[in-house]
Amino acid sequence: MRNHNSRLVHKFYHSLCCMAPPETLSSSVLVATVLSFIFSFLLVPALPLDRTPNNNDLQTLLCLRSNLSDPAGLLASWKNDSLEFCTWAGVSCGERHKSRVVALNLDSLELSGQIPACIANLTFLERIHFPNNHLTGPIPYELGQLKWLHYLNLSSNNLSDVIPETLSSCSRLRIVDLWGEFSPSLSGAIPSSLGNLSSLVKLLLAYNNLEGSIPASIGKIPNLKALDLTYNFLSGSVPASIYNMSALTYLGIATNTLVGEIPHDIGYTLPRIKKLIFEENQFHGKIPASLANATNLTGSLPNLVELSLGTNQLEAGDWSFLSSLANCTRLVTLDLSENRIQGTLPNSIGGLPNSLQFLLLSANDISGTIPPEIGYLTNLVVLHMESNRFTGSIPDAVGNLSSLFRLSLSQNKLSGRIPLSVSNLSQLSELYLQANDFSGPIPGAFGDCKNLRMLNISCNNLDGGIPKQLLTLSSLSDGLDLSHNQLSGQIPPEVGELINLGLLNVSNNQLSGQIPSTLEQCVHLESLHMEGNLLEGKIPNSFAELRGIIKLDLSRNNLSGAIPELFEFFGSLILNLSFNSLQGPVPTGGIFGNKSAVYIQGNKNLCGSTPLLALPLCDAMASRKNHGFKILKVLGFSALSFLLLACAVAIFLKRKKVRQAAHSSCRELKRFSYADLAKATNNFSSNNLIGSGNSGSVYKGRFEFEEHTVAIKVFKVNQLGVPKSFLSECEALRNTRHRNLVRVITACSTCDPSGHQFKALILEYMPNGSLESWLYPDQNKYGLERSLSFGSRITIVMDIASALDYLHNHCMPPVVHCDLKPSNVLLDDDMGAHLADFGLAKFLQSSSHSCHQSSTSLLGPRGSIGYIAPGENFFPQNWAL
Ligand SMILES: *[C@@H]1O[C@H](CO)[C@@H](O)[C@H](O)[C@H]1NC(C)=O
Ligand SMILES: *[C@@H]1O[C@H](CO)[C@@H](O)[C@H](O)[C@H]1NC(C)=O
Ligand SMILES: *[C@@H]1O[C@H](CO)[C@@H](O)[C@H](O)[C@H]1NC(C)=O
Ligand SMILES: *[C@@H]1O[C@H](CO)[C@@H](O)[C@H](O)[C@H]1NC(C)=O
Ligand SMILES: *[C@@H]1O[C@H](CO)[C@@H](O)[C@H](O)[C@H]1NC(C)=O
Ligand SMILES: *[C@@H]1O[C@H](CO)[C@@H](O)[C@H](O)[C@H]1NC(C)=O
Ligand SMILES: *[C@@H]1O[C@H](CO)[C@@H](O)[C@H](O)[C@H]1NC(C)=O
Ligand SMILES: *[C@@H]1O[C@H](CO)[C@@H](O)[C@H](O)[C@H]1NC(C)=O
Ligand SMILES: *[C@@H]1O[C@H](CO)[C@@H](O)[C@H](O)[C@H]1NC(C)=O
Ligand SMILES: *[C@@H]1O[C@H](CO)[C@@H](O)[C@H](O)[C@H]1NC(C)=O
Repeated sequence: MRNHNSRLVHKFYHSLCCMAPPETLSSSVLVATVLSFIFSFLLVPALPLDRTPNNNDLQTLLCLRSNLSDPAGLLASWKNDSLEFCTWAGVSCGERHKSRVVALNLDSLELSGQIPACIANLTFLERIHFPNNHLTGPIPYELGQLKWLHYLNLSSNNLSDVIPETLSSCSRLRIVDLWGEFSPSLSGAIPSSLGNLSSLVKLLLAYNNLEGSIPASIGKIPNLKALDLTYNFLSGSVPASIYNMSALTYLGIATNTLVGEIPHDIGYTLPRIKKLIFEENQFHGKIPASLANATNLTGSLPNLVELSLGTNQLEAGDWSFLSSLANCTRLVTLDLSENRIQGTLPNSIGGLPNSLQFLLLSANDISGTIPPEIGYLTNLVVLHMESNRFTGSIPDAVGNLSSLFRLSLSQNKLSGRIPLSVSNLSQLSELYLQANDFSGPIPGAFGDCKNLRMLNISCNNLDGGIPKQLLTLSSLSDGLDLSHNQLSGQIPPEVGELINLGLLNVSNNQLSGQIPSTLEQCVHLESLHMEGNLLEGKIPNSFAELRGIIKLDLSRNNLSGAIPELFEFFGSLILNLSFNSLQGPVPTGGIFGNKSAVYIQGNKNLCGSTPLLALPLCDAMASRKNHGFKILKVLGFSALSFLLLACAVAIFLKRKKVRQAAHSSCRELKRFSYADLAKATNNFSSNNLIGSGNSGSVYKGRFEFEEHTVAIKVFKVNQLGVPKSFLSECEALRNTRHRNLVRVITACSTCDPSGHQFKALILEYMPNGSLESWLYPDQNKYGLERSLSFGSRITIVMDIASALDYLHNHCMPPVVHCDLKPSNVLLDDDMGAHLADFGLAKFLQSSSHSCHQSSTSLLGPRGSIGYIAPGENFFPQNWAL
């Protein structure tokens, strides 16, 4: 079955090969053509001399015009009130017969409609050139009346019906180009009468629906140089006469259903042949060994440029054809793929001419080792040997193929180590070694293949770690597939350097450790497979950056922690988290509502917030959480004794090592004492101070037994209004939960050792500080070295927009932040933005849309001064909580 794709592939394939088109003629032939043409005119004085405007030709052109629809208006000059039709677009009149139309050149004019029969009244017409239009219908049989016609080019139209037999009457025809378009196109048989066109030089009938056999009469055309019948439904065997055309340079009969053997003496009978395009037929028998004897006119060099015999049923015989090709010093393409070639590849493969660029041997039955002599073919650009039965190791000499662009050795039985000489392949773009038996480490030398776009070494027995050098190849864009090996160790954080990569597959190895958060830099990832390893730890929040990802498989690992809500925001992700140790509630938004998008079976500790998920309900945990908040609210500032008790409970719980709670997405509030906070912040040391402002100070700290750094915001309780802001923040953060809001871990309301009220919020630590500190780098500890990229800015804007959308439209009651400014936008270690400081936040009742009900700021615009003058150092850097 053929389809448009295969046609396109075919077209592409030929253009890829950078070869002259089939219609190329040698200059000597052109000279001969021109001379014979002039001669033919000199010998035919019988033509009438005619200088008056020919009314017939005018009427015929108008007839033609009225039959063609010209939406682009390119035939505007064809007007019925102008007698000067020789000046109309595309119309040429004769040199001798100045008022007679001799050529119509209507190339690529978007014309549609049918070619009318009246065209045959242009009796002096020599050239019809109508390619690349949308012409439909049959080719009028009246064309047979055009005695002077020598050029007919109707290629790339939508013509239908048969090739008219009458064309054989146009005895001067030299060029017939009826290349089809996709459909409908010409059908029926090739008229055998075309064999009477003894002047024919090119007969191009490819890409049609022609059927039946190839007429033997075609082989009798003495000067035919190019015969292209590819992509039709021609059947039967190729007439012997076709193989006996001494002038033929191009024979294209690919993609038909032709049968028979290719004559063993084809090299003698087609002495001038340059291209033999035979693929996708049913030819059987041996590959002829006589090709080397195809010599050109001068006899100095064999002409063969392309020998395409792929997708037939051919055999190698004694491989003598290989040595016979040794003298074809123009040979560029040798395609023998998908045949029935058996046996061992002989050393004589290295004797192929050095001109060879494309060597395709895939999908045969070739066994034995790859001869090191392959290394002599130093101009190879594409080498396909996949899907054979090659054994042994890859010869080191492959490193000599320094022009190689694509190397495919997949699906063989190759073993041993991948040779270090691959590092010599500096042009290599695609390397396929999958489904072999390679062992040993992945050579770090791959790091030298600076043009590698695709590397597939999956399904082997490779072991050791993933070399860092490989991960520095930012050229890798199409894919990196290391799956189904025995790779161990951690995934190096350098994986983040694969910034152009679309597909990464490290699945089914023994990789351990955590998923590197640097993966977020691989923003082009569409497919990420890490399943079937020993990965542990949490799913990094940095996955939020992988906005193009559509397939993420982390199944069969030992990942713990909660399922991050960030996946809710991916439109068309297929997420497989099954068979891990994930815990806590399964998010419910976005893709989590789609059963065929998320796979989570085999995680024992997940719970569902709705019964739909067929998981244990999270009720127990949720009520504890609410309870905790109620306590917090009731406590306010007065019930000091109860607070102390709560802090004591916290210590007790902590001693019991209920530590995962901080990481659990159930976000059970933890309790900390003043002493815990003092210890975590090194007694509120100035070294830990990361910011201070009107309402208090922020310290960086880490609690004993906790792995993550936190930010501890200590409120100044003696200042009017601050306890209110503490309450506002508690209340706002109690009811909100979004990946772009700074997450509150817990709150602490207690007394310090001297008996003063002490109120603090423990928040997620944002290592990259505030947006303000990045926008005004003089205040930025990174100085000018790290300024915000345009991409980061966009991401930050989107993150904040997403947070605000959530606060305004998805919270009940809606929350208005009322103090949005760069210093309140904090950046996590992945430069993801989180909105902070809800001290001035306001809950909107349904009728109110203003912030003016606040008791702390009834007059003037709400918000702090930082918003009005962001450059002013009123809010010091990082103080934004
Ligand atoms: C020329 O064409 C116009 C319409 O395009 C038509 O009305 C007119 O009759 C035509 N004249 C002749 C002489 O054919
Ligand atoms: C060619 O022109 C003649 C008149 O000169 C006319 O009778 C005939 O129908 C025309 N043929 C076609 C095919 O239009
Ligand atoms: C026919 O026209 C197309 C488009 O101009 C051109 O590419 C092609 O070479 C022509 N065919 C021949 C045989 O000259
Ligand atoms: C070829 O032309 C000859 C006359 O030149 C004629 O007898 C013969 O029938 C024609 N062949 C075909 C196949 O049309
Ligand atoms: C091949 O052509 C030669 C003359 O060039 C002729 O003698 C021979 O019979 C032809 N063979 C076939 C099978 O047409
Ligand atoms: C090439 O032709 C010569 C005679 O012209 C013959 O001796 C030689 O064996 C041929 N080579 C092959 C490979 O067929
Ligand atoms: C290749 O050409 C050389 C001379 O140029 C000749 O000696 C040799 O026999 C040829 N090889 C083949 C296989 O035809
Ligand atoms: C690498 O290529 C150089 C020439 O570019 C060659 O001398 C060397 O032998 C090659 N090394 C390997 C291992 O193939
Ligand atoms: C999800 O992962 C499990 C375990 O690896 C696998 O069996 C299942 O086929 C995967 N499902 C999808 C849709 O990828
Ligand atoms: C999975 O991880 C836990 C710690 O999170 C560890 O105790 C356990 O041994 C791991 N299981 C496997 C199979 O590695």
